[in-house]
Amino acid sequence: MKKTLEEHAARFDDVAAAYDDDQTPEYNECVALVLEHADVGGADTVLDLGCGTGAIALGLAADAGRVVGRDISDGMLTQAREKATTRGVDNVAFDTGRFREPNYDGDADVVVSNFAMHHLSDAEKRSAIDTIAGLNPHRIVLGDVMLFGGPNPDAPFYSPAVDDPATVGVLADAFTDAGYAVTAVEMVHEQVGVLVAETR
Ligand SMILES: C[S@@+](CC[C@H](N)C(=O)[O-])C[C@H]1O[C@@H](n2cnc3c(N)ncnc32)[C@H](O)[C@@H]1O
Repeated sequence: MKKTLEEHAARFDDVAAAYDDDQTPEYNECVALVLEHADVGGADTVLDLGCGTGAIALGLAADAGRVVGRDISDGMLTQAREKATTRGVDNVAFDTGRFREPNYDGDADVVVSNFAMHHLSDAEKRSAIDTIAGLNPHRIVLGDVMLFGGPNPDAPFYSPAVDDPATVGVLADAFTDAGYAVTAVEMVHEQVGVLVAETR
């Protein structure tokens, strides 16, 4: 991790109010793909890690039984809660939590994460994926900055000062080692994609 958790949280606190107004077509495509691949049903409990202002959590709420959103930024969580209230969504709970300590007990049927895990180092991502696997989801959907080729700091989505994206291969190996089969990989951009892992 190139910044501490506190530094990342403060960075997102600062942009939280305007976060939803400043998104790229690739981000929007990634959100749509994560929602589609999550393929949740009415009995499912869904955990969204690095939920931010709730794009994924709130997008899945109508189809899920229950959605739990976790993030390290109070500012982002405040925005997410306000959106849930405004939209009358009452089956979503947002609270503080991090990838490797999600502040969530019990099992999750589906775990999703969008544009958040790339802040962790590759070793931390492995540890986070092991933590997620310990919640026994049958499906994990990861949309994120991920490298389909070599890293290119001059291309969009990768700021070396704050980001630490993994290659698709490193992520696929981590999911496989955690006991999952990678069932889909969607490339949105050479540095952005969606990976789906399911129980074997
Ligand atoms: C780019 S935003 C994405 C938010 C949301 N998932 C979306 O699709 O709009 C990244 C989020 O990850 C959160 N984050 C960063 N590191 C985290 C960690 N270790 N554990 C949990 N959340 C983290 C940040 O606070 C921020 O809200």
